[in-house]
Amino acid sequence: MSVSENKPSPHTNTQERVLSGMRPTGALHLGHYHGALKNWVRLQSELNCFYFVADWHALTTHYENREVIEKNVYEMVIDWLAAGLDPNQCTLFLQSRIPEHAELFTLLAMGTPLGWLERVPTYKDQQEKLKDKDLSTYGFLGYPLLQAADILIYRAKHVPVGEDQASHVELTREAARRFNHLYGREADFAERVAVSLEKMGKDAAKRFEKSRKKFQETGDTASLEGALGFVAAHSELSASEKERLQGYFKGTGKSILVEPQALLTEASRLPGLDGAKMSKSYNNAIAMREDKASIEIKIKRMPTDPARVKRTDAGDPERCPVWQFHKVYSDVATQEWVSTGCRSAGIGCLDCKQPIIEAVLREQQPMLERAQPFVDNPKWVRDIVDAGTDKARQVARETMRDVREAIGLAY
Ligand code: TRP
Ligand code: SF4
Repeated sequence: MSVSENKPSPHTNTQERVLSGMRPTGALHLGHYHGALKNWVRLQSELNCFYFVADWHALTTHYENREVIEKNVYEMVIDWLAAGLDPNQCTLFLQSRIPEHAELFTLLAMGTPLGWLERVPTYKDQQEKLKDKDLSTYGFLGYPLLQAADILIYRAKHVPVGEDQASHVELTREAARRFNHLYGREADFAERVAVSLEKMGKDAAKRFEKSRKKFQETGDTASLEGALGFVAAHSELSASEKERLQGYFKGTGKSILVEPQALLTEASRLPGLDGAKMSKSYNNAIAMREDKASIEIKIKRMPTDPARVKRTDAGDPERCPVWQFHKVYSDVATQEWVSTGCRSAGIGCLDCKQPIIEAVLREQQPMLERAQPFVDNPKWVRDIVDAGTDKARQVARETMRDVREAIGLAY
């Protein structure tokens, strides 16, 4: 078998980690479900997914009302389970139970220029938006770097996030590059490579060296990808040894921290009841586990095209938030019924909303069913989070060992 034949597919390679987190500041709503959670659920069967409750992140904005956080940590995990996250397929954990996140944050902070954080677009935006809170804090400025630590500590390759968080993943990439540049070249790099090659076995090592030579002479990317996969598949090597060998192959030295990619959620976005972004603080949200009567009332009260004052006035779906819901919830036939009926005043707005009410309730039913056992047995939720946290902690500890060693803190 040649090195290049062993290229892993992204779907079977268990090495590729996905990491994402959510802040526990309230009941999750249908905007979260359609904008993020549905995607998380899909990814859990494809890659090695780690999802966490970002309670420290919530504190950056809620340090004065932390009871909101306390109330929502496990409730949010129930929302996740309701959406279909399966603790047998992914790892669910709680940030504040893994203080290694804070340790990496501190170490990254030493070499991170202030300007990097001041220039993150969410910094000024959020300060503007959340005027009732004093966000001129050190914690709030630093929170994208805490996010970088969250990601880098799991050496995650993919970070599913919305558009608004893309700049944080970019900062994460810069932080990783800077760290690797500052601390990535070990004094005994060559000796360590030799030890790992020996572990691989003589034949494998020989093929690896041959392929490396070819890559360095010709820049042949197929042999590069092949070799990276070949190394990844060697289970007798630790994650850190694999990193080093891959760096050796590329000629870059060991990269201690891995640059992640943002996995931007495809735009199946569901706006709020009034057409603005769905958010609990705008009072335009439907919670994932909201009671049925309340869902019905909220949808019936949704504003429609302002031009349709009387039932006989024709309307324009493009100017109506109900239409945005039809785009997410209705099939083509129903959408055509809306479009024609609205423009010709053939249907009333309440008629138009009925299929939405039904679709939302239909979507919600299996979520309620999945949530119920956990609502009845809160301890099950805690057990899931405990087990996930133990698993995540092992990975975090392995990275931190490498990080401390790379900086020279292993004395
Ligand atoms: N900052 C994210 C948000 O506000 C939450 C978050 C914290 C996160 N750490 C993360 C998301 C790491 C992805 C990866 O939604
Ligand atoms: Fe909106 Fe439907 Fe009324 Fe048209 S008929 S204005 S799309 S609710």
